[in-house]
Amino acid sequence: MNKILLTGGLGYIGSHVCIELLNEGYELILLDNLSNSSIGVLHNIKKISGIMPIYYQNDIRDIDLLTKIFKKHSIDSVIHFAGLKSVNESVNKSIEYYDNNLKGTLTLLKVMGEANCKSIVFSSSATVYGDSLEVPITEGAPLFAKNPYGRTKLYVEEILRDLCISENDWKVSILRYFNPAGAHESGLIGESPIGTPNNLFPYIGDVAIGNYDKLTIFGDDYNTHDGTGVRDYIHVVDLARGHIKALEFLRKNSGILIANLGTGVGYSVLDVVKNFELVSNIKIPYEISKRREGDIAMCYADPSLASEKLNWKAQYGLDEMCRDAWNWQKLKSLKKLS
Ligand code: NAD
Ligand code: WQD
Repeated sequence: MNKILLTGGLGYIGSHVCIELLNEGYELILLDNLSNSSIGVLHNIKKISGIMPIYYQNDIRDIDLLTKIFKKHSIDSVIHFAGLKSVNESVNKSIEYYDNNLKGTLTLLKVMGEANCKSIVFSSSATVYGDSLEVPITEGAPLFAKNPYGRTKLYVEEILRDLCISENDWKVSILRYFNPAGAHESGLIGESPIGTPNNLFPYIGDVAIGNYDKLTIFGDDYNTHDGTGVRDYIHVVDLARGHIKALEFLRKNSGILIANLGTGVGYSVLDVVKNFELVSNIKIPYEISKRREGDIAMCYADPSLASEKLNWKAQYGLDEMCRDAWNWQKLKSLKKLS
């Protein structure tokens, strides 16, 4: 199982998975419509790995093109990242989210089936646990989505489950990511949100570099060790390595595997701020505001299933996440200036 199609392969997580797969000798085909990435990422993948993967600039909903790709290359397995991912945006653009994330996945699965390529790793999210109150969160926790983005993840999970029931030769791995953070140590690829970042790490990076005056911390009255929200931040390179383990698992097993990819450790917003200050040697000014709607106090994974079934464990901690996020942020700003 060596030829892999990566949908959304130029995005934040896809580009890091790309590097890890190339390091392991996999042959890659990337498909991305650049709706949330840029062609520069492809060149940086080449700079880091020394290899220029085959790339198609197209939409996964283009069934003719997808069919051609599967006819031209004998693809063994697909890692499916392509999709829209902003919780806020999904509330105002729900049909766009359903069209991209659901129709895109259905088109892909149809073409895969016709090409007899029946092995897929799907990017799901801890968002499918909704307001799960019990931490650490196991894969058996009740599932509930609170917004259109989350529902697209839940529905795709259901579609994949049904597919494995109706056709038992499919091999499916659903990976539920917790909070991806950090960047490749080269500083050449990382997260590049368009406009004002919604997520904590890119926002802190922007404050540190001077793009914003201060961070707004959404609430300090949660029932956590310092009152601010606790999350399971996971280094994007650790996350990427989890995908290689999932591919290895699928090579040997049929049916469906659903696994959390998290560290199992929760850090508060203030823990992240303090750690970022230490590695960057820059003060991060902040103000406390009211809680952000939809947020919960604590969310962290029980990652033991991934350890048992995939032989995967996160290696990096908060220090490396902050160090690499900062390194990426600095290099990104330097490039903008030059
Ligand atoms: P990203 O936006 O950086 O990457 C997604 C890539 O898919 C982008 O390059 C975009 O241009 C491409 N794309 C989107 N729609 C497409 C389409 N119709 N056809 C072709 N390409 C398309 O996002 P990411 O952070 O790398 O996330 C990857 C996947 O992981 C997504 O499915 C996301 O929902 C999921 N996920 C992300 C997080 C996170 O916090 N980053 C957490 C959990 C799950
Ligand atoms: C983390 C903590 C905030 C920004 C989101 C999606 C989820 C998944 C991962 C895709 C919380 C606090 C944040 C800020 C802050 N993505 N915060 N000030 O909300 O856990 O998860 O990304 O699947 O679906 O919902 O991540 O980084 O936005 O927030 O105080 O400016 O930081 O309140 O406690 P979240 P986040």
